[in-house]
Amino acid sequence: MLFNTALFTSLLALSPAPAAAISRITRTGKYLYNDGGERFYIKGVAYQPQGEVGPSSEANDANGGFPEPSSYIDPLSSATNCTRDLPYLQQLGANAIRVYSVNPDNDHSECMRTFSDAGIYVLLDVSLPLNGSINRASPAWTTSLLNEYIRTIDAFSQYDNLLAFNIGNEVINLPVNTDAGPFVKAAARDTKAYLKAKNINALVGYSSVDGEPAFRDPLANYLTCGDETVSLDLFGLNNYEWCGNSTFANSGWESIVDDFSNLPVAAYMSEYGCITSPPRLWQEVGSLYSAPTTNVFSGGIAFSYFPTSDGYGMVTFEGTDGQTVETSDDFDRLAARLSNVTATPNTPAQSSVTVTQGECPTAENSTFQASNTLPDTPDQTVCNCLYENSFSCVVERATAGRPAIMGALIDYTCSLLGSTNSTATCATIGGNGTTGQYGELSYCSDEIKLSYIFSAYYESQNRRSDACDFAGNATAVPRPPNTPEDASTNAAQCLAQAPQGGVFTVTSGGSTQTATSSGSMGTATSTGAGQPTSSGSAGNTGGGSNGAISLNPLHLGGSVALVGAIAFGVFMV
Ligand SMILES: *[C@@H]1O[C@H](CO)[C@@H](O)[C@H](O)[C@H]1NC(C)=O
Ligand SMILES: *[C@@H]1O[C@H](CO)[C@@H](O)[C@H](O)[C@H]1NC(C)=O
Ligand SMILES: *[C@@H]1O[C@H](CO)[C@@H](O)[C@H](O)[C@H]1NC(C)=O
Ligand SMILES: *[C@@H]1O[C@H](CO)[C@@H](O)[C@H](O)[C@H]1NC(C)=O
Ligand SMILES: *[C@@H]1O[C@H](CO)[C@@H](O)[C@H](O)[C@H]1NC(C)=O
Ligand SMILES: *[C@@H]1O[C@H](CO)[C@@H](O)[C@H](O)[C@H]1NC(C)=O
Ligand SMILES: *[C@@H]1O[C@H](CO)[C@@H](O)[C@H](O)[C@H]1NC(C)=O
Ligand SMILES: *[C@@H]1O[C@H](CO)[C@@H](O)[C@H](O)[C@H]1NC(C)=O
Repeated sequence: MLFNTALFTSLLALSPAPAAAISRITRTGKYLYNDGGERFYIKGVAYQPQGEVGPSSEANDANGGFPEPSSYIDPLSSATNCTRDLPYLQQLGANAIRVYSVNPDNDHSECMRTFSDAGIYVLLDVSLPLNGSINRASPAWTTSLLNEYIRTIDAFSQYDNLLAFNIGNEVINLPVNTDAGPFVKAAARDTKAYLKAKNINALVGYSSVDGEPAFRDPLANYLTCGDETVSLDLFGLNNYEWCGNSTFANSGWESIVDDFSNLPVAAYMSEYGCITSPPRLWQEVGSLYSAPTTNVFSGGIAFSYFPTSDGYGMVTFEGTDGQTVETSDDFDRLAARLSNVTATPNTPAQSSVTVTQGECPTAENSTFQASNTLPDTPDQTVCNCLYENSFSCVVERATAGRPAIMGALIDYTCSLLGSTNSTATCATIGGNGTTGQYGELSYCSDEIKLSYIFSAYYESQNRRSDACDFAGNATAVPRPPNTPEDASTNAAQCLAQAPQGGVFTVTSGGSTQTATSSGSMGTATSTGAGQPTSSGSAGNTGGGSNGAISLNPLHLGGSVALVGAIAFGVFMV
């Protein structure tokens, strides 16, 4: 920022100093820069209260009891809390927070201003717990997710300290669901196109689970290869490898820095702070903000300001109103480390590695099986058209909000449909990220998909009344078309509306499907499956243990829904 010094001084004399506007952060190649052309490093802390996690959560039920949050608190919606927390974020020397779940309908202006005035940027995850994320078990990039992302982007795009929108957290996971890759990349593509069309200056990021190099490295390459329209701006690694008293070499960080040295875009540790060898010494902070780590990484986010059920938290809230903050020793040690990070001496201002963003490898990596053929941009007009013109049997609204049941019903109905005379198949609603083949309706919400196959089944049964019931989950719709032939014709006409090429720029949130006479539609849901296997430390090569993290903190924001009941694979194109 350049100031007119005289004006600035006279303003100072008149009134309390107006906060200098926070610098715009941009990315050039591998690094982030402020307005003054200096490299920018994320010095951050995770700022997300833990949502409801526990046996009562439906998110856990179909998932072997693995804890996943089924609710969330929007931490940017309480000005009181943000004001309460600001001095502690400042004690940490933080210039950024990572927030995992927000409700776009809330007012965030006071929190955002409080943090902006203090020079604190926000990295914001736009996915939500439960059905608000790309589903690991049955990945799809859908109209409902795109609309959800756009709603959040619209709610935050006016803030000058919004640094990045994170389009997913640990969606692509261990053991191996690398077939989710194309859906994540399509989310990045469509989000980038939206930001560009709206002239919004925010980076697009993704936070990856750590893992063995054979998984971690091709994943990073996959999401950052290709031209600017599809590659991420910011690759986040959730890393818990530096445990206890360790070193750059022994912790595994050295090999990460080596392995990521050719990434064409900016990288950061989107979570760090192993707890398996307490106390946390935060020695990694020194390494994170000096060369050679700074050749590759632009800082990181320590996990976590707020308490978690498994010991990552660094403050507690006392007093009847919960407004008194107590810091832990972990907090104090981290604050000492971070405030010791100075003007980043010895860090390269320009990358010595000039990596041009370019072609993705043509052949799929044998361990990372994700196609470079991405699914189409979700087209709300096609899904709306089906909804309005061609369903004779639709899913009940109450069911649509329950991803576990949706998964089971899609699976079941697909198996029924296979043995009927229907020409509709589940290939139309499925997609395969390994082969890069996607059904024409794979981008519709699960509600549309299920209604599509409910209707196909119902008609194959000549609209026998009990063929549209599914144990009370389905309702027949008494509206045109009145014959099965019409239904198919109408569906075909809707499908014919799909744009050629399939990739386009969405410039506003698609109009939500609204309930009509059927009274049943209007919500969208996706099913998903959490993966209990993905502990943050899976890739440990040295120093630390493998981190028996009982609640993977990475799931706080919920890249994940639950369930696992769906086996689209059987029906795939
Ligand atoms: C897969 O990717 C990794 C890391 O990028 C690389 O070392 C390995 O050679 C690749 N394997 C194949 C079969 O291309
Ligand atoms: C860490 O380990 C080194 C080498 O074993 C030792 O010299 C040092 O005192 C230890 N530091 C702490 C804080 O435990
Ligand atoms: C604000 O803080 C109080 C006390 O810790 C907590 O109960 C409440 O959930 C917080 N609200 C938000 C929106 O973060
Ligand atoms: C602070 O930085 C100095 C020099 O960079 C280093 O010697 C010292 O160990 C650091 N202290 C802490 C607490 O990290
Ligand atoms: C998730 O389900 C809720 C409740 O049914 C619905 O309002 C919301 O639109 C769904 N979100 C997505 C992204 O499908
Ligand atoms: C399928 O079978 C039903 C019931 O026999 C019949 O009414 C319907 O016309 C058939 N549909 C097709 C596409 O052949
Ligand atoms: C809906 O389907 C689920 C799963 O098959 C079943 O448990 C439930 O009883 C059905 N009916 C309703 C009204 O949820
Ligand atoms: C995708 O296709 C591949 C290759 O045909 C197959 O092995 C895999 O099971 C399919 N995956 C899904 C999720 O259907």
